[in-house]
Amino acid sequence: MRDIVDLGAFGADFTADPYKYYAKLRAQGPVHRVRIPDGPETWLVVGHEAVRTALTDPRISKNWRGSGLLGETGDESALFTNMLDADPPHHTRLRKLVAKEFTTRRVEALRPRVQQITDELLDTMLAAPDGRADLVAALAFPLPMTVICELLGVPSIDREAFRRWSNELVAPTSDEAVQAASLAVSEYLVDLIEATRNSPGDGLLSALIRTSDEDGDQLSREEVVGTAFLLLVAGHETTVSLLSNGVRALLQHPEQLAALRADYSLLDNAVEEMLRYDGPVATATWRFTTEPTDIAGTRIPAGENVLVALASASRDRERFAAPDDFDITRDARGHAAFGHGIHFCLGAPLARLEARIAIRSLLERCPDLAMDADPDALTWRAGMLIRGTEQLPVRWKA
Ligand code: HEM
Repeated sequence: MRDIVDLGAFGADFTADPYKYYAKLRAQGPVHRVRIPDGPETWLVVGHEAVRTALTDPRISKNWRGSGLLGETGDESALFTNMLDADPPHHTRLRKLVAKEFTTRRVEALRPRVQQITDELLDTMLAAPDGRADLVAALAFPLPMTVICELLGVPSIDREAFRRWSNELVAPTSDEAVQAASLAVSEYLVDLIEATRNSPGDGLLSALIRTSDEDGDQLSREEVVGTAFLLLVAGHETTVSLLSNGVRALLQHPEQLAALRADYSLLDNAVEEMLRYDGPVATATWRFTTEPTDIAGTRIPAGENVLVALASASRDRERFAAPDDFDITRDARGHAAFGHGIHFCLGAPLARLEARIAIRSLLERCPDLAMDADPDALTWRAGMLIRGTEQLPVRWKA
C-alpha cells in the first residue's frame, strides 16, 4: 500500500507556494499518490523529465468523458468536445482546423491592435487621480479577453459574465457553482453561435461555423461549441496570470526590474523566465491511464486519473540551476509553462506577444511602478490548475 500525500493538509500555504512542496515530493521520487485539496485522490507526476514523459505517453489519455472518473456532464458536455479533451485522431483533426489562425505570422499581424488595446487600457488606468489601480482589473484581464473576443468576433458586452463563469470553471469554489457555471456558459455559447450563424462576420467563430455548416462531418455543432469555449477560456485565463505573476516577480526583484528597464533587448527572455519561474498553469488538465502505465519506474494501473505538475518541471534543479531564483538573463528554454507534446499550447505565440507588449508598455509609462499591497496578503485563485493572485494592487506616483 502506498502512502497518500494529503495536499489539502498543507492548507492555504500550498496554494500560495506550491513550489516548496513539489520540491520535497521531487526529492522522494517522480510519481506520487496524493489527495488534492477538496478533491479526489489522484496520481501526481513531478520533475522535468517525468513530466515530459507523462505528457507524451499515448497510454495517458485526455478523452476523459465516459471514463467515469471525474463525474459525468449533462447537456453542457459539448463544452468539452474540443481538442484539449481529445486524443488522436480527433485531436489532430480539431487542432488542425484552428492551428492556421495561430501561426507566428498570423499572430504577428495582430501586433498593432494588441498595442492599441494596451495603450487604451493604460490611458484609462493612468487617469486615476490617486495613482493606484488593481493591475488585474485594469490590464491583465481586459487585454487578453479583448484580444480573444475580437479574434473570435464575440460582442464586448458579454465579457464580464463570461469572466465569472470561466473563473469558476478553472478555479472552482464548489461543485454546485461549477455546475451552474457550465450550464450558463453552455447556453450562452449556443445562443452566441446561433446569432453568429444568422449574422456572420469575419471572426474565427464565423469561420468555424462555416466549416461545420459546409461539411457536417468536419466540425459538428458540438465541436464548434467546445472549440469556442476552449479558445475563450484558454485565451484569457492563463494570460491574465502571465501578466500579473510576471509583473509581481519584477516588482519583488528590483535588480531584475532595473536590468530590464536598462535594456529592453532582455524583454523576450524575461517573459520566458516569467513563464518558467511562476507560470500561469501549475498542473496540466486531467488525464487518465487507458492501460497499466510505467512512469519513471512506478506502475500506474489502468483507469486511474493523473495530474502532471508543470510548475514542478519548471523549478527542477536537475534542469535549471538555482531554480528558485528569478533571473531574466538565464536560458529559460525548456520550461513547461505551455505544456509539452501534442497538446502543447496552441496560443503560445499570442500569449507571448501580449505579454511582451503589455509589460514593456506598462514599464515605459510607469517609471515608478511599485506594489501597493503586502505580497503575503494577496489572495490566490482557487484550485491547483491556475496559479495567480486575484488582484495585484500597484501604484505609479513616486
Ligand atoms: C501565458 C498564457 C498561456 C499559458 C501558460 C497556456 C498554457 C497551456 C497549457 C499548459 C496547455 C496544455 C494543457 C494540457 O496539456 O493539459 C495549453 C493548451 C492550449 N492552449 Fe494555452 N496557454 C496560454 C495562452 C493561450 C492562449 C492565448 C490561447 C488561445 C488564444 C491558448 C490556447 C490553447 C489551446 C487551444 C490549447 C489546447 C491545445 C491542444 O489540446 O492541442 N492558450 N495551454
